[in-house]
Amino acid sequence: MKLSLTLFNDKEWFVSGMLSPDTLKYFNNQIEIAKEENIDYKSRLIGQISSSLTLRDPEDRVINKVFREILNCRYEHKGGRDLAPFVQAYIDARMSEFYVRESLSDWGVTDSNITLKNTSLWVNFQRKYEYNPAHTHPALFTFVAWTKVPFTMENENNHELARKTNQKNINGALNFIYGNGGQPTPHYVTPEEGGFVFFPSSLMHVVYPFYTSDDERISISGNFHAVPVKTDSTLKV
Ligand SMILES: [Fe+2]
Repeated sequence: MKLSLTLFNDKEWFVSGMLSPDTLKYFNNQIEIAKEENIDYKSRLIGQISSSLTLRDPEDRVINKVFREILNCRYEHKGGRDLAPFVQAYIDARMSEFYVRESLSDWGVTDSNITLKNTSLWVNFQRKYEYNPAHTHPALFTFVAWTKVPFTMENENNHELARKTNQKNINGALNFIYGNGGQPTPHYVTPEEGGFVFFPSSLMHVVYPFYTSDDERISISGNFHAVPVKTDSTLKV
């Protein structure tokens, strides 16, 4: 799996990559199951979009095919850091903070028994003109993957609202906003079918509307928390 680390600063960064065709097919199948089960998730989210549904991951592929791949990636360089050691060190630091903050030693939990768990997963169905306002996630890490992108950025850039502006690649984009103090800086990510990003949940982001398709944009999202117990869906890191 080819992965890249985009490093804004030591606390604000994201990893990007592509799901394998098999994993994309698996999640597309899970999305069909989610439609049949129709368990609402929208009431827990801020997105001004048509629908959000609970998504299941019975094979733990978010952990096994995405997260584990990130930690196994040794050879990608971007922003002057090795991806896996940087992400591992960041995770270790956040887990240690969690251990101290929750006073887990008082409960007999050793710091080696902390695990990272994919605690929630959902699918978003976004239509023309809909958007997801600036927000962060109440977790340690967040994962987003796109399974259907019904527009091209070329068409969006040629839309009459975008054509004469001084900034392209905004419509339909995922926009990270980073920087402490001063002027926050935007970074636009063009969604691509099968593409994904993994980032600290505290990293602010926005999803902008698209204008040039009447079809759905479909994305899946999940949150990761540190937990002091080990279950089938946890990963020791
Ligand atoms: Fe989000």
